[in-house]
Amino acid sequence: MRQPLVAGNWKMNGSIENIKELLDGIKQGIKQGIKQGIIEYGLDKGNSVEIVVCPPSIYLAEVHSQIKDSAISLGAQNVSDQASGAFTGENSVSMLKDYGCKYSIIGHSERRTLYAETDQFIAKKFAVVCEAQLIPIFCIGELLEEREAGKTEDIVSRQIDAVLDVVDISAFKNSVIAYEPVWAIGTGKTATPDQAQEVHAFIRKKLSDLDADTGAQVQILYGGSMNASNAEELLGMPDIDGGLIGGASLKPTDFLAICNAANATVNEKESLV
Ligand code: PGA
Repeated sequence: MRQPLVAGNWKMNGSIENIKELLDGIKQGIKQGIKQGIIEYGLDKGNSVEIVVCPPSIYLAEVHSQIKDSAISLGAQNVSDQASGAFTGENSVSMLKDYGCKYSIIGHSERRTLYAETDQFIAKKFAVVCEAQLIPIFCIGELLEEREAGKTEDIVSRQIDAVLDVVDISAFKNSVIAYEPVWAIGTGKTATPDQAQEVHAFIRKKLSDLDADTGAQVQILYGGSMNASNAEELLGMPDIDGGLIGGASLKPTDFLAICNAANATVNEKESLV
């Protein structure tokens, strides 16, 4: 059984004041849920959901200190492909580790489209992140015109193949993939559960064909306008193991509702095993 994971990608949002509010809200919700016995958050709690927050890098230290005694894990939104040196504005894997990051998002579609990050550049970051024993949350997904041209599977395959050119398939065992159809990100237009499941199953099969264990173990998140109302249906699909949440991760009640939905569906999925 794969552990569900819900990661909040705050993007370039937040301030010192509202970070505290947001985290207090999430921590409070976790405590309440545990008290009521309806949820058991955290890594060591069987198959219950792991919650990750990915703040802007300037706030990593602050968030790190605020989540120290909680069940929340920390992730970065991006990382350099270089170890150190003259790379103005970049943060290295060792810097992320200094502030307790367990994850780093890489290859987000905003990085691909707005900052011209290529498949090969992202693949290099994937390798650097794995080597540092951080866990990449590797984002892939097609544009609307690519979906309409029936190219979704070709696109996600190409994005994965670029990574497989530089790492062994087994690296995916300790990685998270986020399938994020670009047309669904921040648009309020969510993929239907069937549309998402179809691509998730395709990705899992592609990896399983190379190594059955890796395919069975890799967590595949869905991202793209997931919210409190559509989460349960999406997360109930057999190959959707969690969510990468943008807009809805900025409101504690919405974010917690998604985490609760992930917990609810893991119980349903377990009863089917
Ligand atoms: P969204 O963003 O939930 O606001 O669509 C998801 C993402 O970009 O990871």
